[in-house]
Amino acid sequence: MHFGVDYYPEHWPEERWDQDAKMMKDAGFNTVRLAEFAWSKIEKEEGEFEFSWLDRAIETLSNQGMEIVLGTPTAAPPPWLTENHPEVLAVNEDKQVMKPGHRRHYCVNSDIYREYTETIVSRMAERYGDNDRVIGWQTDNELGHPVCYCEDCREKFLSWVRKKYGDLTELNSRWGTTFWSHEYTNWSQIPLPNDNPRKGPNPSLHLDYKRFFSRSTVEYNKLQVDILHKETENQWVCHNFMPHFPNFDHFDMAEDLDLATWDHYPTEIRESYQEVGAGHDLTYGFKGKPFWVMEQQCSYLTRDKLTPAPRPGEARMWTYQSIAHGAEGIIYFRWRPCRFGDEQFHGGVLQHDGSPKSPMYQEIKSVGRELEKIEGAISGTKVEADVGIYYSFEQNWSMETYRYHSPTDYKKEIMNYYSALFDANVNVKFVSRKSDLKELKLLIVPVLPMVDESLVTKFENFVQRGGSLVCTYRAGIKDFDNHVTEKTFPGRLSDLFGIEIHEFSPIEEKPEVTLAGFEDVEKTYPARDWVDCLQPNEARSLADYDEGWPAEKGYAGVTENNYGDGTAYYAGLSSNQDFYTDFVSYLLEQSGVEPILSGDKGVEVRKRINPETGEELIFVVNNSSKSKYVQLSGEFEELLTSKAVSGNDEVDPFGVMILNRV
Ligand code: GLA
Ligand code: ZN
Repeated sequence: MHFGVDYYPEHWPEERWDQDAKMMKDAGFNTVRLAEFAWSKIEKEEGEFEFSWLDRAIETLSNQGMEIVLGTPTAAPPPWLTENHPEVLAVNEDKQVMKPGHRRHYCVNSDIYREYTETIVSRMAERYGDNDRVIGWQTDNELGHPVCYCEDCREKFLSWVRKKYGDLTELNSRWGTTFWSHEYTNWSQIPLPNDNPRKGPNPSLHLDYKRFFSRSTVEYNKLQVDILHKETENQWVCHNFMPHFPNFDHFDMAEDLDLATWDHYPTEIRESYQEVGAGHDLTYGFKGKPFWVMEQQCSYLTRDKLTPAPRPGEARMWTYQSIAHGAEGIIYFRWRPCRFGDEQFHGGVLQHDGSPKSPMYQEIKSVGRELEKIEGAISGTKVEADVGIYYSFEQNWSMETYRYHSPTDYKKEIMNYYSALFDANVNVKFVSRKSDLKELKLLIVPVLPMVDESLVTKFENFVQRGGSLVCTYRAGIKDFDNHVTEKTFPGRLSDLFGIEIHEFSPIEEKPEVTLAGFEDVEKTYPARDWVDCLQPNEARSLADYDEGWPAEKGYAGVTENNYGDGTAYYAGLSSNQDFYTDFVSYLLEQSGVEPILSGDKGVEVRKRINPETGEELIFVVNNSSKSKYVQLSGEFEELLTSKAVSGNDEVDPFGVMILNRV
């Protein structure tokens, strides 16, 4: 287990470093991330490299047993660079040039910026590529913004488009340019999506710009990864994702990386631990293997305003929640709050005074002792799941590039289903178009406007072989050019779901339309945002609309269709959490997925498995500040306390249990 902290030695007098390193060791830390914002300190003026301070910092830390992760510092270019080359500055959607003075103000497509990137990354890699204390690298920092519309981007977009379509006849047809007289007769006429200040650029062009910019970001990252792989020995390369950042396809980027990591700040969402869980599971999904939390919150944060400090035991709970979802590295952000700069009141393990009396230092120190105890049991374990959620950045772009699709917020609809699964205490994994689905019993595909033959075949095969598949409203309405299908909705998915849709509508007033169901459940649920009116062919209705015009016309709201050895479910509406809870519980039962354990709401239950022995470790995490109960079916050893436990057991506020069945 890698356990450590993000440290900025450049912010503190060198005389303090040794004391910091010793205190880190005392806390049980073994890993430190350094340098991801230290460009101006490493290259003070163009070509003047100064590594001796970083050498000494690495040495001081490794003398206390720390292993080092080095960040490449490209998220914050030094002022000499942007002064000499203002053309590297990004241009935002409103055509404003982003000036220096903050961070992330460069364009990933700038050739000049790419050259400077190559130089700084190569020089760092040459310097530390065979340093045996350096175990790995982080590229840049939280890539994904700003989306840029500068002249370099325009030029590269044009060549990307030319390569994709070959000739203008093809482009005109795939972009539907006969609409409003957009037919292009020369490549130079092609605009960027923000060229016209009115909202609503051509949805096909806009989707292509999203694809192009995603590719550009992935390419920019790969430029760094390739240098690091070439110039270093036995060191891995990762990136610290913000998993839901929509502007590039994280699954694509992860293919180039050895490890996925994410930055985890739960305070803002502590009312919804489901979101934290989803962040972990999505990061796991990017590479389908254990991940690191590269920045784990452990204090108050600087956001719009200062966020509340974690309550006693809460940061410990966050740590175990991360591990429960498959983290094998936990790095707290940050060691000590900086006395200056934008984040001077962003907390850390220590307070500004650097004293070991910091309550968080004491809390984390005790976590360090605990981790030593459970290290053996966790090592080599991973997360497996019977239930998957299909996640696609591209499907989200299709929604974003055409505002009249439906009021669906991609993440919200994903979270509606994820939250119900989270509360049902089952492991969930996120899968992408490239994933092998064969391990899954149940796959939920919350928003899927665009389909093509191969995607439909992938889903049909999954169901044919016995899987349960769920699609939701507005599925299959488009092709990958962002054009509406000419088939009856849900287009190419009609056979699989055994339904036809001839009417649909956004829902503005609630509860204008309600749904009744499911089997034996005497409840009604309000339709929210949208209704697809389902007309079952081979399918049968699982829940009918029971109020409002779709009810008068006898439409179904949710259907179930036997297809091959499996079942395809279609949910034609968005509703309240009660609907998702009941629907998901029906789906789990039908597809034979059992909860790991049952407990009060607010108690999270997850498991990790040792793939060699098949042994399972069950994590029970109380996300709340109140005592909760969990029903232990059988006899268990609790690893943190080494006690035997069974029956209806109390979990302390923010408490954690790690259980081994005996
Ligand atoms: C991000 C960044 C960090 C820091 C934190 C503050 O995740 O990666 O550099 O700014 O936010 O919460
Ligand atoms: Zn640009």
